[in-house]
Amino acid sequence: MIHITNLSKVFKSRQGTITALKDINLHVSKGAVYGIIGLSGAGKSTLIRCLNMLERPTEGEIILDGQNMTTLSGKDLRRARQNIGMIFQHFNLLESRTVSGNIAFPLEIAEWSKEEIDERVKELLPLVGLEDKASAYPAQLSGGQKQRVGIARALATKPAVLLCDEATSALDPQTTVSILGLLKEINEKLDLTIVIITHEMKVIKEICTDVAVIDQSQIIEQGSVESVFIHPQSSIAKEFISSVLPNDLPAQLLRELALHPHAEIVKIHFLGSTASEPVITDLIKQCGVTVNILYGSIDYLRSTMFGTLTLELQGSPDSLADAYEYLHKRNLKVEVIRNGI
Ligand SMILES: Nc1ncnc2c1ncn2[C@@H]1O[C@H](COP(=O)(O)OP(=O)(O)OP(=O)(O)O)[C@@H](O)[C@H]1O
Ligand SMILES: [Mg+2]
Repeated sequence: MIHITNLSKVFKSRQGTITALKDINLHVSKGAVYGIIGLSGAGKSTLIRCLNMLERPTEGEIILDGQNMTTLSGKDLRRARQNIGMIFQHFNLLESRTVSGNIAFPLEIAEWSKEEIDERVKELLPLVGLEDKASAYPAQLSGGQKQRVGIARALATKPAVLLCDEATSALDPQTTVSILGLLKEINEKLDLTIVIITHEMKVIKEICTDVAVIDQSQIIEQGSVESVFIHPQSSIAKEFISSVLPNDLPAQLLRELALHPHAEIVKIHFLGSTASEPVITDLIKQCGVTVNILYGSIDYLRSTMFGTLTLELQGSPDSLADAYEYLHKRNLKVEVIRNGI
């Protein structure tokens, strides 16, 4: 759906030259929710603004829904932009227009007839849960409701792609969850491709199917959310992940473990269906080890179960070797926290 090839963006000013994007290559499949995460100043906004040519790339190519965006201008670019919705951190609503008036705005620009506009607005209000707010003004709405108007407005022209620039950063945690839930619902219901940029890993964890990590103008890591969460490569990715999935054992447990220096301690990572399969029963029955559960956590990546279990294993050297072989065969990621010899 979106192919970004060798994209670079250099800002030149009297103060000097800033390379905001350096040789970016990304492919976003149709129906994906693609998250781009990075620290402040990494180049996220510049990247997303290049997708709809709000920012002209210095080099490279962007093919979006079959169209080469970099070659378009004038009327053709305006038409292509109707295929791309965008929502913003601070909503950017027109204060003097009602909710309906805001949603209608892009359709007026696209020269839809009044009847078509009224019909489309009537469809969109329930989609974003704002049927009862049609005549309200932005000043009368909460942040979450404002973002719902922003989403309806972005979807008005039935775009194939929705771009979200820090769409939940101005919202409280509970409202963030409801807006992310709405985006996920729209993604599934309309098969809409979504690109989200964020500095919050919880956004990636809640709704993204794929993720790219951008650092100092470059993509340093990318892949499915599951693969990046299970096998993060860069230290930045590891740090982002630990903000939502704490990796450390509780201090109390560490103190207790210090009293048993010869215990064999392993941490097993589960993903998807393997999370609910009877690994522990198998370890005991098939491998003949005794298993003591020390610590565990279960969470979801979008809708895939993801968890860790920290176990103490006891048994003869042979049965322990069997246990490791079994875990290996099951394709589980196993971290030996302490080798109990
Ligand atoms: N119009 C511009 N002119 C000059 N420099 C710019 C311009 N826009 C962005 N930059 C610079 O490009 C770099 C990347 O900025 P960008 O806004 O893309 O970062 P970001 O990842 O979105 O950061 P944040 O999380 O703070 O929003 C920064 O060094 C910024 O100062
Ligand atoms: Mg930004």
